[in-house]
Amino acid sequence: NHSIRIAIDGPAGAGKSTVAKQVADRLSYIYIDTGAMYRAVALKAIRSSLDLHDGQALKRMLDETTVELIKNDEGQSVFLDGQDVSEEIRSHEVTNNVSFVARLAEVREDLVRRQQLLAEKGGVVMDGRDIGTHVLPKAELKVFLIASADERARRRFEENKLKGFEVNLEELKQEILLRDKRDSEREVAPLRKAEDAVELDTTSMTIQDVVAKILVLAGERA
Ligand code: C5P
Repeated sequence: NHSIRIAIDGPAGAGKSTVAKQVADRLSYIYIDTGAMYRAVALKAIRSSLDLHDGQALKRMLDETTVELIKNDEGQSVFLDGQDVSEEIRSHEVTNNVSFVARLAEVREDLVRRQQLLAEKGGVVMDGRDIGTHVLPKAELKVFLIASADERARRRFEENKLKGFEVNLEELKQEILLRDKRDSEREVAPLRKAEDAVELDTTSMTIQDVVAKILVLAGERA
C-alpha cells in the first residue's frame, strides 16, 4: 500500500479544497492548495503596487518571496514571507485579480516548480487547475470536479455567510463565471480536464459522497 499522488482539478467552487483536505486527512497525506500559492503571489503584487500584467516584475518579486503552507486544526495556514495571510488571500480584491497573475508564464513556471518539489516524495493530494495536465502529469489518480454554476455560487454564498460577509448571489455567480473564463482561456496551462482524469459532477453529491468516491479510486491505485 504505497503513497500515491492525487491531483484534483476543476473550476472555482466545485468543492476541490474541502474534498482534497478531507481525502488527505483520511490517507494521512499532505494537502497542497496551489490556488493559495497563486493568491499569495497576487496579494504581494497588489500590496507592492506592481503591474499585475508585468511578468518580469512578478518574476523579480518571486525571487524574493517565500510561500509556505502549514497544516493546522482548521486545515492549512498560508504564510507569505513569514506572515500569516490565510484570511487576506481570500479577500474580494485578491479573488478577482488572481487570474491575472496566474496567466503569466513567469509566475506559473516558478510556482509549478515549487509545487513539484512539494510533491516529490508522493503521499500528496494537490488541488488546482493544471495539476493533472502540467504539475503532476504522472499522478496515479486524477480527478476533475465539476458542478453547475448555480450550485457553485450557492456554496460560495454559504461560505461567505458563515464568515459574516454579505454578498449578492447573482454577483457571486458572475464573478465565478468570469474567473473560470479567464482560467480556461489563458494560453499557459489553461483549466482543462486531463485525458486520464475521472470526472465527477458534484452538483447533487454531498462532500462525504465525493470524499468516499475518491478514496475508493485511490484504493484501486495504491
Ligand atoms: O483554487 P482557488 O480558487 O483558490 O484558485 C485561485 C486562482 O488561482 C484561480 O482562479 C486560478 O487563476 C489560479 N490557479 C491556477 N492554477 C492552479 C491553482 C490556481 O491558475 N493550479
